[in-house]
Amino acid sequence: SEIYLSGYGGTTPAFTTDLTRLEAVAERVLEPGPFAYVAGGAGSGATSRANREAFDRWALVPRMLTDATERELATTVLGETLPAPVVLAPVGVQSIVHPEAERATAKAAAGLGLPMVMSTASSTSIEDVAAVSGPGPRWFQLYWPNDPDVCGSILARARAAGFSVLVVTLDTWSLGWRPCDLDNGYLPFLKGEGTAVPFTDPVFRSRLESAPDEDLAMAVLRWISMITGTDRDWDALPFLREHWDGPIVLKGIQHVDDARRAADAGVDGIVVSNHGGRQVDGAVASLDMLPEIATAVGDRLDVLFDSGVRTGADVVKALALGAKAVLVGRPYVYGLALGGEDGVRHVLRSLLADLDLTLGLSGHRSVAELGPEVLVRR
Ligand code: FNR
Repeated sequence: SEIYLSGYGGTTPAFTTDLTRLEAVAERVLEPGPFAYVAGGAGSGATSRANREAFDRWALVPRMLTDATERELATTVLGETLPAPVVLAPVGVQSIVHPEAERATAKAAAGLGLPMVMSTASSTSIEDVAAVSGPGPRWFQLYWPNDPDVCGSILARARAAGFSVLVVTLDTWSLGWRPCDLDNGYLPFLKGEGTAVPFTDPVFRSRLESAPDEDLAMAVLRWISMITGTDRDWDALPFLREHWDGPIVLKGIQHVDDARRAADAGVDGIVVSNHGGRQVDGAVASLDMLPEIATAVGDRLDVLFDSGVRTGADVVKALALGAKAVLVGRPYVYGLALGGEDGVRHVLRSLLADLDLTLGLSGHRSVAELGPEVLVRR
């Protein structure tokens, strides 16, 4: 309400409150390589666009005289109470947009009590992120190394650093075909960005010591080869259970049969996601798969959603279609680029304020009330 009251009171905010415009503003401050890496999608960008268009095919139908003056955004996800159904999606290599990188993001998230999902591809180590994370929930995202000892070591570090939820990303066993980055010759990892987690890991480092002459590029390629490939399949999930005693979430689910399989495997949650359209160009919009998946498995595990969330109305629509919470990616990264910790905080607070007001003006007192009946399909 502070941003709302000061804006309507005549004070211009430091950053735009229109999260759909952030990308254009961030483009002015970022170098072309990093900007394209963040903003870009796979191939022609069809799936990135489809993610946004899918939201436009649903419309809210506001109700009147419902006494929605006070709203409740809090919700329980994976056994933890969150102040709002919003999670910061795992985003690696944040040092390419701001020197404070994941530390700034973690501080902003902690200040609002929202979980930041720390990426395996972070430019900051697990322990350094944990040190600035505050008492709130911490989630860790895994790119799954095929070396069991390296994997076990990273998971043990995350647990020791207080991370409770493990998010295992399944859709990026190889980077997608991303023409912007290919044309720019830009891959942040080859400069050592986004390798802090393995490079600070004693077991991964011991693998390098067997070849002491390896230079940075070779070491990075070693790491990339460990997280590439699909030999980790459904039968390998028990390995993660043995090495993680908290909730496990599979990220990148799009097909209802995979959602059922995840439920059968006993995982605690899934993220219906197409990685923000960065992996399979021409893939279905993530929101289009959400209702069927939520109906099929929503009573067996927590269904989370990402890819394309930009406004409070988008959050309301995803929750109405069955998500317990949404993850937001690019918008907070643009906030980080524009203003470090303050920029991330501004983006999150703007989204939460927009969500709160949209919920109330639509006639709903709490996020728990939302179901498909609050929407019409255009
Ligand atoms: C990502 N994403 C991602 N996902 C993941 O599981 N591990 C990672 O390291 C990254 N890294 C990453 C970097 C950048 C620059 C972006 C934009 C995205 C995907 C991310 O978690 C999420 O699925 C999407 O960003 C969601 O879509 P929106 O909100 O960006 O439209």
